[in-house]
Amino acid sequence: CGIVGYIGPRRVVPVLLEGLRRLEYRGYDSAGVVYLENGELTKYRCQGKLFNLETLIDDAIVAPSHIGLGHTRWATHGAPTTANAHPHSDCTGRLVVVHNGIIENYHSLREELKAKGHRFSSETDTEVLAHLIEDCLEDDLPTAVRTALPRVEGSYALGVLWANQPDQLVAARNQSPLVLGISAEEGSFLASDIPALLPFTNQVVFLEDMEMAVLTSGGRDIYSLTTGEPVTRLPQTILWNAAMAEKAGFKHFMLKEIFEQPQAITNTVSGRVNPETGEVSLAEINLSAQECRNIDRIFLVACGTSWHAALVAKYWIERHAKIPVEVDIASEFRYRHLLIDERVLTITISQSGETADTLAGMRIARKMGSKAITICNVVGSTMTREADGTVYTHAGPEIGVASTKAFTSQLAALFLFTIFLGRHRGTIDLAKQQELAQALIGIPAIIEHHLPKIQEQVGALIEGYYDCRDFLFVGRGLSYPIALEGALKLKEISYIHAEGYASGELKHGPIALIDKEMPIVAMVPQDKVYHKTISNIEEIKARQGRLILIGSEGDSHLLTITDDVVWLPKIHEDMNPILYTIPAQLLAYEIATRRGCDVDQPRNLAKSVTVE
Ligand code: G6P
Repeated sequence: CGIVGYIGPRRVVPVLLEGLRRLEYRGYDSAGVVYLENGELTKYRCQGKLFNLETLIDDAIVAPSHIGLGHTRWATHGAPTTANAHPHSDCTGRLVVVHNGIIENYHSLREELKAKGHRFSSETDTEVLAHLIEDCLEDDLPTAVRTALPRVEGSYALGVLWANQPDQLVAARNQSPLVLGISAEEGSFLASDIPALLPFTNQVVFLEDMEMAVLTSGGRDIYSLTTGEPVTRLPQTILWNAAMAEKAGFKHFMLKEIFEQPQAITNTVSGRVNPETGEVSLAEINLSAQECRNIDRIFLVACGTSWHAALVAKYWIERHAKIPVEVDIASEFRYRHLLIDERVLTITISQSGETADTLAGMRIARKMGSKAITICNVVGSTMTREADGTVYTHAGPEIGVASTKAFTSQLAALFLFTIFLGRHRGTIDLAKQQELAQALIGIPAIIEHHLPKIQEQVGALIEGYYDCRDFLFVGRGLSYPIALEGALKLKEISYIHAEGYASGELKHGPIALIDKEMPIVAMVPQDKVYHKTISNIEEIKARQGRLILIGSEGDSHLLTITDDVVWLPKIHEDMNPILYTIPAQLLAYEIATRRGCDVDQPRNLAKSVTVE
């Protein structure tokens, strides 16, 4: 998750360690460095924090080397062990690679390279890159990198060092950030993010997708990976302070993570769905077509925001895979009288993979004969080790305590699973499979395009609402869980009392709360239950409730109800829960910051609850 590289007059090891320290906020579970001295590479890698790495390096911190690479890894393929930590080497041990991103075709490349005699020593996708570059290597590293990378599918930010060319580092990027630091006095730097560079220089050059750079102590040359042509790009001056740099210019991690959602969803989906046919492959869950057909019930078990993802998935799975789904809060599930046997599939959903109640629920279900799959963001976490299969969300580390990108990427994973299941059970045909897959593949670009506009609309609204004492959130169908999530986000970070309800349930009690002081956020996409939702909203209006509507562009009827409307594009109905989550998150965020709350670390809350 963090890359640092250096070539220049300073001793390299302290530069690498300082850079890695500045990237610690990104989260990691192993770390490593490599440097070149007298034609030989020296590598240190270990599990856990940088402190462990420093202890391991010990006196070598003063090694008289001036070129090297460092990495902090947040595991995506393979557990967070020392063997899986970067840097990774080729067979000769003279070429080393550090990498961020996901290599989608690593399996086929690995098999091909193995057949050619390459021996692998880790489970990572990264090691494939070291061997692939070695395979293309004659006498020039930049040429080998340029030959190898067009064969690689997926995302990468890459640093490569070859002992035979001690005066240069090679870097490359595709869909994973990489930035060069430039200084006439200090030398040349490479990093996955700006904070690592700021102690040394504020002159930076951003690499673009499908570009590579050759760094020497005197400067850098950039080339297109597709044409091989040189690229001219002048350095920019960064004026951020250290805290701003960690958050990539965003005020809070939560806001940064809200804006990372298009990338997070892309990472969840990429490599798992064929864009032409819509076919979904989820080999990692170890569920055969026959097993899919044999399931007669599914239990979805989770806590907090992850439980809301489960509620959405119930609608999807029942609609498309035609299996009855029960959704349980894990702390209830584990103590109720469960009727589970081997025809039940249990799916736990957990960002951390460590939540005590969810883990206990999984263990109980397995003991009763159910197969258990987990949808999880943290590689190697307890749930992933104990489950029969895991769908990783690959959303990247989530630092804000209130979950945002982990939630929408859980939804993406659950939708993939829905298509997978529907196809194997024969409940969706090829055309439907294609339609659903296209809808999912298209959602990141839609969110990316509309995010700034949504933030602007929400920001313009909150002045009239930020000091309210209570809020209601309502929605029907697929929007009901999003109403619950909107209310949870608001109470978590702004400490305003908020409740989510199914719109149709209002008249059975909550409507008594409505007066002209009460704000009600209503989700009104133009879906199957649109007209029903509108009737519920009219009931609120008749009692003078203050309505904020989140609805579809072009739905002019909404303006006859209230002026406070957040407009979203009309998209495939099944994708509405993902899209409608964005304004709900931003509403909570904008209100909480307006009230001066600590949104990244709200009072009384923990990111991962490992006690009962
Ligand atoms: C904590 C967090 C929530 C999260 C819940 C479940 O309460 O504050 O944001 O939704 O745990 O966490 P999990 O890691 O299992 O998804």
